[in-house]
Amino acid sequence: MIGNAWFETVAEAQRRARRRLPKPVYAALLAGSERGQTYDDNTAAFAALGFAPHVADLPAKRDLATTVMGQQISLPVLISPTGVQAVHPDGEVAVARAAAARGTVMGLSSFAAKPVEDVVAANPQTFYQMYWMGSREFMLWQMERARAAGVKGLIVTLDWSFSHGRDWGSPWIPERMDFKAMAKLAPQGLARPRWLLEFARTRQLPDLTVPNLAEPGRPIPTFFGAYGEWMQTPPPSWRDVRWLREQWGGPFMLKGICRLDDARRAVDAGVTAISVSNHGGNNLDGTPATIRLLPAIAGAVGDQVEVLLDGGIRRGGDVVKALALGARAVMIGRAYLWGLAANGQAGVENVLDILRSGTDSALLGLGLASVQDLRPGDVVIPPGFTRELGADVRA
Ligand SMILES: Cc1cc2nc3c(=O)[nH]c(=O)nc-3n(C[C@H](O)[C@H](O)[C@H](O)COP(=O)(O)O)c2cc1C
Repeated sequence: MIGNAWFETVAEAQRRARRRLPKPVYAALLAGSERGQTYDDNTAAFAALGFAPHVADLPAKRDLATTVMGQQISLPVLISPTGVQAVHPDGEVAVARAAAARGTVMGLSSFAAKPVEDVVAANPQTFYQMYWMGSREFMLWQMERARAAGVKGLIVTLDWSFSHGRDWGSPWIPERMDFKAMAKLAPQGLARPRWLLEFARTRQLPDLTVPNLAEPGRPIPTFFGAYGEWMQTPPPSWRDVRWLREQWGGPFMLKGICRLDDARRAVDAGVTAISVSNHGGNNLDGTPATIRLLPAIAGAVGDQVEVLLDGGIRRGGDVVKALALGARAVMIGRAYLWGLAANGQAGVENVLDILRSGTDSALLGLGLASVQDLRPGDVVIPPGFTRELGADVRA
């Protein structure tokens, strides 16, 4: 790459991703739904929180390590699962390598473009993410394949309501990368020669298939083929969630919790962890920012399950705010996707380094020696900031 590939903030990684990726690929990463209210609030809410720093008696060294679902990690930041698609030829394997190099967990989406076996080989600390999709036999098969590959935990994501409209327009993504699709995308691809060159070097076309959803003896489905099957699957009940949890047996995270009543039901279903998540503002628009929902949920179930948060994390200060308000760790989505687009594996490592040093600086300023010492009083919370959803409904 020409010039200095290193970037100093996630905002700069985003700018580089925008410049480097063909328009539809960048738009697919940005995603968001409807008017983007939730997408915006996820980051605006972090900006509304403040700090009150000390100047003396500060700890010379800070400890950022923690554990999530039995995995020791060197910083309280995990890779959230995303269907990466055509960002980079190495895709999820590059992300997994970066996470391993920086001592953290890789979350692998079932809609990923790389097989779970390759990803676990790159990072043994991998959690595999599933949706409630297809028949029970198919879900069991998928789960057993991930188990056999050696994944260390299962993430089940339930917050998806198939809303496809965006006021800023959705990108055209082909069903498969054939000649017709290439011709249609050529003008946008040619406007981004560095991205094209990277694929040309590996003699690959951007892969729009989902190998982890290939049933034995059947061809690998396309992203959209699998998506169609998911849309047609009747949504799960809490009994179904309990069934899935029992079948897996090992560490199990339910991702997408926004309400107290759902958090309690997740505890009743026997989960190990929950992630307070609104799918990064890609689900039901109008859902409040996750950081607003976290304090009530952590207060209600934080002593029974591990509580994580994802949505809107762009800097180390955001990590510290989330931990102060009750999260054990956070997961990141777009931040690492932008890093991957900007500079491959090194770009993802760059993003994790930014989050690590930002977390460390915030701890230093707050006068705390460990992420374990963070408390709500470390954060300046404006009046009316938090939201309690489902507090009045008890299962
Ligand atoms: C392009 C894109 C694809 C995603 N795909 C998945 C997915 O396949 N499975 C999943 O559980 N979450 C998926 N997510 C949600 C992320 O795991 C995470 O919840 C979200 O990105 C966090 O918000 P942030 O991007 O502001 O960090 C996706 C998010 C984005 C932006």
